Amino acid sequence: MRRKIIAGNWKMHGSRAENTQLVETIISGFAGDDGAECVICPPFVYLHEISRQLRDSAVKLGAQNLSAEAQGAFTGEVSAAMLRDVGCRYVLVGHSERRALYGEDDGLVARKYAAAQAKGLVPILCVGETLAEREGGHTHPVIARQLDAVLAVSDVGTLARAVVAYEPVWAIGTGRTATPEQAQDVHAFVRERIAARDAKIAADLSLLYGGSVKASNASELFAMPDVDGGLIGGASLKAEEFLAICAAALDGRVV
Ligand code: 13P
Repeated sequence: MRRKIIAGNWKMHGSRAENTQLVETIISGFAGDDGAECVICPPFVYLHEISRQLRDSAVKLGAQNLSAEAQGAFTGEVSAAMLRDVGCRYVLVGHSERRALYGEDDGLVARKYAAAQAKGLVPILCVGETLAEREGGHTHPVIARQLDAVLAVSDVGTLARAVVAYEPVWAIGTGRTATPEQAQDVHAFVRERIAARDAKIAADLSLLYGGSVKASNASELFAMPDVDGGLIGGASLKAEEFLAICAAALDGRVV
């Protein structure tokens, strides 16, 4: 059975004082559930402290980025092993802000995905088209290219220990959410493309939607058959809002 996953991408927000309060509220509001996973992805510098705070809780830790290299003279970079060392289980790979602002191309994203896998981190591989690409009718080819680049380097079997997040760039931080039908269309496309290589892997893969998800629109998105949860930006910084989104992923069951 596919697991529902709600992951909070804090981006470059937070402070030690703010985090303590936010994490405390999330921990006490999310009791854990066999069918769902709640993940938070704070900035690197806070990972270790938050990892301790999450101990004995049902909430998992993820990072927002990692180096494609294992170790060495790479000033400012953080390796997969280091992330494991401080208690991360997940890592975002290929977020559109990394692609657009820091020049991460498909090849580098594929190497980061492989680096995460090599150390037992679960990559949350982000894919998504820009507004111009969507309006030009290129959504499916763009998503296909982003997926295929990863699968050119890593075997399709690695997706058994990975998550894919569809984040249309035009929906990120804009308040403009994809409609449930638009999200479903791309999610179904992703699953079909992977099923062409391995039907079982595709059927079991959790596909998250990200882009202006809020408590008020989460239920209708998560009701779509191929939407298995969300990657949440702004709304993950508000504990009650984030917990309400977690609850929506569990079909309203108590979390
Ligand atoms: P928002 O939820 O703020 O639109 O951000 C989405 C996102 O980029 C999560 O990775």
